Amino acid sequence: MGDIPIIDPDITMASTLPSKYYTEPTVFDQIISKFGNHWHFAVHKNQLDRLNVMPLNDFEALTKEPLVITNDGTNLRCLSNVCTHRGMIITNEPCSSNFLKCPYHGRTFDLNGKFTNMPEFGMAENFPTMDDNLAEYPLEMWNGLLFTTLKATSFQDWISPLQDRIGWLPINDFMYDKSRYRSYEIEANWALYVDNYLEGFHIPYVHNDLHGVLDYDDYRTEIFEGGVLQIGIAREGEACFDLPESSPDYGQEIAAYYYWIFPGLMLNFYPWGLSVNIVSPISVNRTKITYQGYVWDEEKLGKGAGGDLDKVEMEDQFIVEATQRGVSSSAYERGRYSPTRETGVHHFHRILTSQ
Ligand code: FES
Ligand SMILES: [Fe+2]
Repeated sequence: MGDIPIIDPDITMASTLPSKYYTEPTVFDQIISKFGNHWHFAVHKNQLDRLNVMPLNDFEALTKEPLVITNDGTNLRCLSNVCTHRGMIITNEPCSSNFLKCPYHGRTFDLNGKFTNMPEFGMAENFPTMDDNLAEYPLEMWNGLLFTTLKATSFQDWISPLQDRIGWLPINDFMYDKSRYRSYEIEANWALYVDNYLEGFHIPYVHNDLHGVLDYDDYRTEIFEGGVLQIGIAREGEACFDLPESSPDYGQEIAAYYYWIFPGLMLNFYPWGLSVNIVSPISVNRTKITYQGYVWDEEKLGKGAGGDLDKVEMEDQFIVEATQRGVSSSAYERGRYSPTRETGVHHFHRILTSQ
């Protein structure tokens, strides 16, 4: 007999995630210690045109591993951002440079991570060696979006659900819009933020304005290995994609594709472009949320489901923080799922408990 799964694969029978996943520091530590094994969004390649040295602060928050992406005009590389001398962080801010130089004692590396110079080491024997170069990590690009991980698994398999569905979008040409950057810290466990993202069930109760532009009855959730896609259908006359015939959704009035990929990546595609949300756990009851915006069609900004994202975010944060207090109560252990509206949450909980 195998172990009984914590989350029953049959949603009609299943109970939700036990509350210790949201409240116990040891459970939290165990789960986030595996985050480095997954692919994470790093940056859009357009962001590396001017600032060609980019530390990945969100990635470090997720995995505790400081990395930096470099672009020498020909090669893009993902390197360790840790100096091979005594371990100083080499670069804290995005910058434009032809080399990497440690601010502690001046060791330099080229943009491929190769050691090039170090003051006061003329008498050091057997120096430099390969160990003085910066370690390199996997880096893959999909339609201009760069992804990295500490432990390479098949990138093509991982990205194929997005490629098959929305590969037609000219994401390569989306332009980074600094004004859309947001960063929030909330008093809640990261998984509660993800739970809330993964269902449209709460839209009529929590998001009045969003409810006005989305067709709640036609809201759809699809699951795939490692992630969930939610599709928002526009109400009559509201902003929607002009889908090409090559799209599997051709003929539908799609207002938004909401992709979540384990653990904390949210890629929200709207007719105006892409909003990337990154959920970074800080501690068992504290989480950082980062927003980055990439604009495709400026005229569609501010319209439809992707209109007032700040308002929707505040409404969600209020719910998630209050839920953290609730799941911390001795009266709450776990609940049940709506078989019609919470398939995404159920899928997430199954992934989370099988890590
Ligand atoms: S730690 Fe980088 S040069 Fe000393
Ligand atoms: Fe919401």
